[in-house]
Amino acid sequence: MPCPSNETNIERDLTFHLARVAEEAAVASARTMGQGDRKQSDHAAVQAMRQAFETVPIAGNIVIGEGERDEAPMLYIGERVGAPPPEDGADFPRVDIAVDPLEGTNLCATGTANAIAVLAASEPGGLLHAPDCYMEKIIAGPACRGALDLDVPVSQNLKSIARRLDRDVTDLTVIVLDRPRHHQLIEDIRREGARIRLIGDGDLSAAIAVAVRGNGVHAVMGIGGAPEGVLAAAAMRCLHGEMLGRLVLDTPELEERAARMGIKNPQRIYTAGDLAPGSHIAFVATGVTDGALLRGVRFFGEGHRTHTLLMTSGNNSVRFIDTVHMNRKPGPRGVRLY
Ligand code: FBP
Repeated sequence: MPCPSNETNIERDLTFHLARVAEEAAVASARTMGQGDRKQSDHAAVQAMRQAFETVPIAGNIVIGEGERDEAPMLYIGERVGAPPPEDGADFPRVDIAVDPLEGTNLCATGTANAIAVLAASEPGGLLHAPDCYMEKIIAGPACRGALDLDVPVSQNLKSIARRLDRDVTDLTVIVLDRPRHHQLIEDIRREGARIRLIGDGDLSAAIAVAVRGNGVHAVMGIGGAPEGVLAAAAMRCLHGEMLGRLVLDTPELEERAARMGIKNPQRIYTAGDLAPGSHIAFVATGVTDGALLRGVRFFGEGHRTHTLLMTSGNNSVRFIDTVHMNRKPGPRGVRLY
């Protein structure tokens, strides 16, 4: 029988394995919710995700991870993950992986909404090796494809989004990270009369929310992490959302580092297709704390319950997986849900 291609494996065979990996990270970090220690929450997620990868039948290569090898002991860029190769000499499919085991470390540490455990996978070369720097981003839903521009005034982008969504600028809600660097951006949005949702953290879950109709939010604007930008692009490839991003390489060291990673033009504006060019992309997110699209992990006597978003670029499906994981046999009154 011919060996199925990488692509087929990712979409058909691997997605549920990948969902389990995100779930393990979400459960481990959710146990630390509200403890006020973001490092502890992050560590729990990283460790659980790293361990869960050990049972996934892939030859995985981390392209977006916890940092360079010397600064991150696990899930560092370039780390090989996956189950040990089979004894019959066959090869597992080669897969590039982008991870954010806990997106929103502060959100988890404070028990605030929208912390998620995330990963994306593609055939080799399908996810940009972006340096761990900032990225200027504008993200909106599928209706806005081709309508955005990072080099025009904010007012023009707001008008374009409003036109594509068949509403007034004053009917838009824009999500912006609450940071001093966004002072001018916030002023500009306010001047146009659009509404703003300021968030403390988590521009990746914000990106997913604006790409889905009915959430009452219409765009993400501003500067956030570049790794989160690549993951957002993978999600946009699956949701057909619109995204533009430009790396913020504002020191010679960062420019050099980016050049070493193959980024020749520091001013380049990337589309979602440039950031996540793979032909076959899988994107998985599991809720850690309750959020707009995903419920957080719930714990109860016999086990726990997770809520996971699982989507792929190839087969146009968006799955929500609601799973009860039982640690022991249910009691006489049957399976508890929470
Ligand atoms: P962590 O999960 O690493 O805490 O990142 C959360 C986050 O808010 C991202 O969603 C966002 O892209 C980035 O941090 C913004 O960085 P900064 O907090 O430095 O402004």
